Amino acid sequence: MPVKIAPSILSADFMNLERELARIATADLVHVDVMDNHFVPNLTLGLPVVRRIVEVSPVPVDVHLMIEDADRWAPEFARAGVASVTFHAEATQAPVRLARELRSLGARAGVALRPASPVEPFFDLLPELDMVLVMTVEPGFGGQSFIEGTLPKVRRTRDAITAAGTDTWLQVDGGVSRETIARIAQAGADVFVAGSAVYGADDVAAEIAELRSRAST
Ligand code: DX5
Ligand code: ZN
Repeated sequence: MPVKIAPSILSADFMNLERELARIATADLVHVDVMDNHFVPNLTLGLPVVRRIVEVSPVPVDVHLMIEDADRWAPEFARAGVASVTFHAEATQAPVRLARELRSLGARAGVALRPASPVEPFFDLLPELDMVLVMTVEPGFGGQSFIEGTLPKVRRTRDAITAAGTDTWLQVDGGVSRETIARIAQAGADVFVAGSAVYGADDVAAEIAELRSRAST
């Protein structure tokens, strides 16, 4: 399956979001980090801004919810028309019920795991999930360095997806760069979030192409 590059607008200029979205028109998805200052110690943006992003984005919108009470809020993002909603395993009481609700609202359903959270409880639930997000930094901030110790988890997740025979995407988020992306791809990831690597580049389109090529070899 071809790899997907999902630039994170966390590293974009929030005062010029429309222009920043236009700069990543060659990407596969745009990754939007929603933080509530409770689940993570940072606050970003919420539903009204996401609704406008859906209207102007040249690529499908991939929302990463780093918020408490995902059961209450995640469906609202699906209703906003995003392509995928990823909630944290640590922030839901009922992941399968929530994933089913997101799918019924027309969104892809993803579950995200902090670096220290086990992924194994989700292996039997893969048919209910369109994506698993293995966090490769502690969620909350862009620009952190990749945690090497998360690679075995990526590998185990890929093996489980292969064994289950589902078309679940395996996303990684945090510290993805020219230096790390090939290793992460070899471990089995196929959707790569990159914030500072993409928006920190002089030529954003060239950086997206470079990341895609390094992930594909
Ligand atoms: C961090 C966010 C990431 C962040 C990644 O909690 O979930 O999406 O933007 O930033 P980089 O690519 O700079 O590590
Ligand atoms: Zn993210």
